[in-house]
Amino acid sequence: MSPRDPRAGVTAVILAAGEGKRMKSSDPKVLHEMCGRPLLDFVVQAALQAGADDAIVVVGHGRDEVTAHLTAAFGDQARTTVQSEQQGTGHAVQCALPSLSGDAQAVLLLYGDTPLVQADDLRALIAARNDGDHELGMLTCQLTDPTGYGRIVRDESGAIVAVREQRDASDAERAIDEVNPGMMVARIDFLSEALATLRPDNDQGELYLTDIVAAAAARGTVASQPAAAATLAGVNDRAQLAAAEASMFNVIADGLRKGGATIRQGARIDAGVQVERDATIEHGVVLRGATCIGPGARIDVGCVLENVSVASGAYLKPYSVCTDSTIGENARVGPFSHLRPNSQLDAEVHVGNFVETKQTHLRRGAKANHLAYLGDGDIGEQANVGAGTIFCNYDGFQKHRTVLGRGAFIGSDSQTVAPVTIGDGAYVATGTTVTRDVPADGLAISRVRQDNKEGYAPRLKARLKAAAARAKAAAKDKPPSDQ
Ligand code: UD1
Ligand code: CA
Repeated sequence: MSPRDPRAGVTAVILAAGEGKRMKSSDPKVLHEMCGRPLLDFVVQAALQAGADDAIVVVGHGRDEVTAHLTAAFGDQARTTVQSEQQGTGHAVQCALPSLSGDAQAVLLLYGDTPLVQADDLRALIAARNDGDHELGMLTCQLTDPTGYGRIVRDESGAIVAVREQRDASDAERAIDEVNPGMMVARIDFLSEALATLRPDNDQGELYLTDIVAAAAARGTVASQPAAAATLAGVNDRAQLAAAEASMFNVIADGLRKGGATIRQGARIDAGVQVERDATIEHGVVLRGATCIGPGARIDVGCVLENVSVASGAYLKPYSVCTDSTIGENARVGPFSHLRPNSQLDAEVHVGNFVETKQTHLRRGAKANHLAYLGDGDIGEQANVGAGTIFCNYDGFQKHRTVLGRGAFIGSDSQTVAPVTIGDGAYVATGTTVTRDVPADGLAISRVRQDNKEGYAPRLKARLKAAAARAKAAAKDKPPSDQ
């Protein structure tokens, strides 16, 4: 980054120490998830994308959990500093000041509970403050219902002079529909001086960060940068969380549509999921975690995928549930298939209805088209697994593997008692319980030989009919029971 880049020397300070009382939760508010990721992640990510050199997150309530999460999600790109008592948003920034690096020229001040914030808006904000070297820059927006937000007070010339919190505002100030969404950028020398002058003379007896706006106006100038209300909403309760999430699902889907994927209304695609060109995601589909859908793949109605990689041209028929698995090119899965963790389906594999797999590798072209349990298996290329096959993988203590060779054929209603290996090209007759290895090209058959008795059926039926009549007569003669 060149020294003239307006973003150079910007450190983000993100406030996340509050309890979030209005969530009525034992978890810290900023760890509540939206589209599969904690609220806080969206803010940290927007700040880094906007060009912040690093992010300092002020933690307090649930600090261990929040810190552990940040380390896992962002490594050394996000640092934390502790605010042990929550004495207000201004106090929270005071706690972060000693952690700022000497290179920081400006501080991007954000709240951890505004997850819809866009990197583009933050870039524009940073540039607006920079042009003219204002003490402070802030995003502003107009709301039809400004309830709950700090109102922006301007003088006759239109210059911002203060932010007034709703609970401290006069009736006239409450009527103002321009609000403070809570994203500001301040020159560092101004910020440290202004923070030192904060007083808790407000309804909550807290140090309000928003009071630095009046300090900036008194000392110099405040740049304001308008932004769309939809991207600035704060999440204070679960209804606002639901609304923010609905809005983010639309943002994610629209982003993927712009990239050439067809995303039907009603699909729920979490943040971070990839969907390539010409893939189709039908309604009611849920895609979570590190899921990646390849070009031209089709995920039909009601499928739920978590951490699944689907290669190009694959087709998942309705209501298939897949977790931690990979599905190869042009494979067919479902309807109603269940791929449990570590299922690996190579190209052209077919897995049909009511087939459950777990820790099983189906090699190229293998097929298991109807109701089967395939746990801990390795299924060779072009092998065919018949309906009703069960890999008996568990002896009550340990899991064991079933290995099927290339082109092996397992007749319907068979069981393989693992550990067992069935060789290349071998054939397991329908209804066989395989307890010993089958050599390549061998036939395993374990069912009882069939016996046909000529003319026996009418005699059998007569006998059964007479027995039924006797039972009915006996029931009639019996005195009624007292129950
Ligand atoms: C705040 C703003 C308000 C703005 C609104 C936008 C203040 C005083 N008010 O109100 O002008 O319109 O956000 O959404 O800043 N936090 C701490 N330490 C504290 C207190 C809060 O870290 O001591 C954190 C919270 O965890 C939260 C954020 O700061 O992530 C905002 O606090 P919150 O109580 O939600 O402020 P609002 O009432 O929403
Ligand atoms: Ca808030």
